[in-house]
Amino acid sequence: MTTIAEPRSRATRKTSRTNAEMIGWIFMRASGVLLIVLIFGHLITNLITDGGVHAIDFGFVAGKWAQPIWQVWDLLMLWLAMVHGTNGVRTIINDYAERAGTRLVLKSLLYLAAVVIVVLGTLVIFTFNPCPPGAPADLLPSFCTA
Ligand code: HEM
Repeated sequence: MTTIAEPRSRATRKTSRTNAEMIGWIFMRASGVLLIVLIFGHLITNLITDGGVHAIDFGFVAGKWAQPIWQVWDLLMLWLAMVHGTNGVRTIINDYAERAGTRLVLKSLLYLAAVVIVVLGTLVIFTFNPCPPGAPADLLPSFCTA
């Protein structure tokens, strides 16, 4: 039978002296609240307004990322979701993986995946070319031909 320790009993594993876990706990709540605003704003503009989901194509995305407000919006959504999600999965690994080696392997894979996704996503948002040369004009945002 597995016995669950008292919630306020001392941790048996070596823990850090800083209050990093409390900062993480507060971050999960704060980022959760911000993510609600960011995700619902994203869903409303992409799926409901101006033709809804059927209006989404290359030109729609290119038009959005030509505006700094949407670059910042999507960047915040990417970073917050990734740091929030990665910290959440880190907690789950710490809770369920009992062997130190297993925790090390799983958390290394998790952090590697998070860094790759954050770096690639950030690069895409800022290096995206809305008017690629040679692309059919009807697929491009209207400002490309101007
Ligand atoms: C609507 C926006 C979101 C809100 C309000 C929210 C809220 C929260 C809160 C308050 C926690 C802490 C739960 C606890 O400590 O018991 C949490 C945990 C977690 N969240 Fe989010 N979250 C949101 C979006 C996301 C997204 C987009 C992801 C994935 C990228 C994600 C992945 C996780 C994971 C993996 C955990 C850990 C679950 C656990 O500890 O059992 N969440 N979330």
